[in-house]
Amino acid sequence: MSSFLEDTHLSAISPSSSFSDTVRLEREGRLAVVVIDNPPVNAGSASVRSGIHAAVAHVAADPDIDACVLMGAGGSFIAGSDIREFDQPLADPQLPAVIAAIEACPKPVVAALDGAALGGGFEVALGCDARIGTPHLVVGLPEVQLGIIPGAGGTQRLPRLVGMSAAIEMICSGRRVKAEEALRLGILDAVTEGDLRGAALDHASSLGGAKRRVRDAPLPADPVARVEKARQDALRQGRGRPVRDAIEAVGWAGMLGFDDALAKERELFQRLRTGEAAAALRHLFFAEREALKFPGLKDAAAHPLGRIGVLGAGTMGSGIASAVLAAGYQVVLIDPVPAALEAGLGRIRESEARHVAAGRLTVEQSRHHLDRLTAAGTVAALADAARPAVDMVIEAVFEDMQVKTEVMRQLGATLPGSAIIASNTSYLDLDALAEASGSPERVVGLHFFAPATLMRLLEVVKGRATGLDVLRTARDFARTLGKIPVISGVGDGFIGNRIYSAYRAQCEFMVEEGAMPQEVDAAMEAFGFALGPFAVGDLSGLDIAWKNRRRLAATRDPGARYCAIPDRLCEAGRLGRKTGAGWYRHSADGRTRAPDPEVLQLIEEARAAAGVVPRAFSPEDIQMRALAAIVNEGILVLEAGIAQRASDIDLVLVHGYGFPADRGGPLFWAGRQPKARILAAAANLAAKAGPGFRPADLGRWPLFSPT
Ligand code: 3HC
Repeated sequence: MSSFLEDTHLSAISPSSSFSDTVRLEREGRLAVVVIDNPPVNAGSASVRSGIHAAVAHVAADPDIDACVLMGAGGSFIAGSDIREFDQPLADPQLPAVIAAIEACPKPVVAALDGAALGGGFEVALGCDARIGTPHLVVGLPEVQLGIIPGAGGTQRLPRLVGMSAAIEMICSGRRVKAEEALRLGILDAVTEGDLRGAALDHASSLGGAKRRVRDAPLPADPVARVEKARQDALRQGRGRPVRDAIEAVGWAGMLGFDDALAKERELFQRLRTGEAAAALRHLFFAEREALKFPGLKDAAAHPLGRIGVLGAGTMGSGIASAVLAAGYQVVLIDPVPAALEAGLGRIRESEARHVAAGRLTVEQSRHHLDRLTAAGTVAALADAARPAVDMVIEAVFEDMQVKTEVMRQLGATLPGSAIIASNTSYLDLDALAEASGSPERVVGLHFFAPATLMRLLEVVKGRATGLDVLRTARDFARTLGKIPVISGVGDGFIGNRIYSAYRAQCEFMVEEGAMPQEVDAAMEAFGFALGPFAVGDLSGLDIAWKNRRRLAATRDPGARYCAIPDRLCEAGRLGRKTGAGWYRHSADGRTRAPDPEVLQLIEEARAAAGVVPRAFSPEDIQMRALAAIVNEGILVLEAGIAQRASDIDLVLVHGYGFPADRGGPLFWAGRQPKARILAAAANLAAKAGPGFRPADLGRWPLFSPT
């Protein structure tokens, strides 16, 4: 967007008047421009709402004003309601009243849209008589991602512009729609490459005083079958979001009078806004932004990245390569074993083909990705002067200290000094690996989660010597991949795997004490986990944790409690879904799991060997013991300084381990429980966990609600 100073219309502006500390009105002859100026993203705070309300009243009353343009300062329209206000009752005027005032204004109001017009911001634009956008604009109603539905007419006005089925799709996905598509859908009246303010003023003049309210437009015809398909798709994809409520609200557009439908939409919005799920999702929204912060990082200079090496063409390496290609980088995939390299390249091509088949990519886009992919057989080839230099190499070789140490030594010796060396280790000591490279300041951990193309979490591990410039580059790189980066310190299993191991251990102990794996899974799934811990183990393969246990065997406290059932399963060749059996027996297509008498027998033998008399567990017993284990270990991770803040732990568990998002993560969840409930669960855990358990001092943490 051009700045006001460059604006061609500036010469005609008379002095501006302020209607609140965030909204001012500027005059251009017989037209007015209402400017919202609430940095950084013009969130629709109480001040913005009251400012627009008062400015529009002024426009309505002033006989010298014929029409008005509504726009945001600083390159964006309005990013939505200010969700920091959502924990308290909302101050008047609330957004529906502001939009009603725009519609009631006898003069046309044109929205000039740049940057983001999201949520309540988009609803304000839908309340205007026309919408002019720039090519950089995104519009959308992302409310369901915050556990609410649009609450200021979005469910009623959008269908009148785009039809029921498109409105259901947009509202239930929360998808951000770019200007070009918004124009095609009929949301925008025009897109201007040039001066937005000028184009909007011209449009306002061209209306000749006529109102063009969306609320007066008839609902476009939309075949029943298409609406039904949109409904079904939304219900299938909308897990953990209030899509059923959103669909119902959109449906009112075809059934009720406009004002009745608006009132019902608002009532539903308010009910959801004040609920637990919405509070949890708001917490995660701010947690994601907090997680980017680290002392000194803002001032550190990021390295430019163009070409990235991925070393190791296994499942993880090829997945990482696919994710990096999709973000627009050049990728060189390296593997010394020709068959492994070929298989890795094949997996990347298959992944692209799957995305094309699913309509997520066009053939053209996929070809661009693959055009940027090359392969090499050795690390030494990266030093070949004939090849373009790599700016960063991510090693994703076998998770073994010796193998990785040798790889780090080679990378340190081969790569130019400016190149960053990233390790995808999920457990190993990053500081020791960094030393092996000979230049530890350029080593950082990038712990991806499988499948790397889909999982949003990326643990960015700062070693003792990692330079701030390298950390900044890694964090920014994660964001360009569309990931949620969480910075972790060095420690076995970093943040996520360490906490998950503590959780899994308690679940195994409960099985030893009398619970069945399917009871534990059912209890955790009832709490909201997508899969219980034993189903997850079978899915990812029991051999990974087995290998890790053997790695730690030499250093494990021999007096600590140890559950041998998973070892017995692995020794019996039951490695999970890939072998058709693990904690469960799996159907050939892997879609169904069933308890297996052989597992029961193994469990009973282990109980007898441990001298345990089995006892019954209720779902509540299971949930509280497992959750207390997560909270306890989370606090130990915080105390050890491996995680910077409690909300980072929430992000890691939600985005990497299936903790239900609508509970906000383990520490947020614990903080919403009565303190006595959490302390009782922690005491029970400490009593049952057996030798070797480290209790955290939960009472010391100011996380918990006092009652
Ligand atoms: N309310 C309060 N603060 C917000 C906010 C909002 N809606 N949107 C962004 N912010 C804050 C962020 O927390 C961040 O604060 P910080 O600097 O202190 O960490 C700052 O603004 C900048 O935000 P980002 O870091 O996200 O900036 P980006 O440039 O990366 O992204 C954006 C900008 C695309 C606008 C992104 O912030 C965003 O998607 N915002 C949320 C949009 C949204 O969900 N709107 C719907 C709100 S609900 C609603 O409108 C209800 C209505 O129907 C009644």
